[in-house]
Amino acid sequence: MFELRAILKGVAVVVVLAGAGAALAAGPIEERQQLMKMNGKAIGVLAKMLKGEAKFDPAAVKENAETIASDIQKFVMLFPEDSKQGPPETYAKAEIWTDRDGFNAAADNAIKAAQKVAAAGDEASFKAAMPDLGNACGACHKKYRRPKD
Ligand code: HEC
Repeated sequence: MFELRAILKGVAVVVVLAGAGAALAAGPIEERQQLMKMNGKAIGVLAKMLKGEAKFDPAAVKENAETIASDIQKFVMLFPEDSKQGPPETYAKAEIWTDRDGFNAAADNAIKAAQKVAAAGDEASFKAAMPDLGNACGACHKKYRRPKD
């Protein structure tokens, strides 16, 4: 009985360590790419409504635009000096580290644009606010992201 308990304890420790290992394995490159993937999904939902392919849904607009704003807030924190190069392959340009102010400003622009979309209570103001958000994504990508080839 005593021995069994010791073994079970050992198993629990191994499980905890394995969990910690998995959390550590996901570094800043994976984390920032994951956040951007979520932005891609969120803007896809918004774009469908903008194009009239989906019904305007104010709650979904708010949720997805708020996701984008908070994802970009987290995203800009994920560029430590040692994450300029992968693995995994990163598309972040060196300019992020040489022009951090410009990078942060591009992020702020996008956050503000997303907050404006989130605050749009009706379809007309949603449609008026969306182009700024799309442009803000594109402006940062143009300067700070290598195209995937
Ligand atoms: C402040 C700059 C900035 C803003 C704003 C920005 N992005 Fe990005 N995005 C990047 C960078 C840099 C990468 C490449 C990250 C890497 O590979 O390490 C990226 C990557 C991506 C990717 C590819 C993710 C992958 O690895 O599969 C998608 C999709 C994406 N962004 C969508 C968006 C959308 C949609 C918006 C606007 C809602 C947006 N981004 C706003 C800088 C930005």
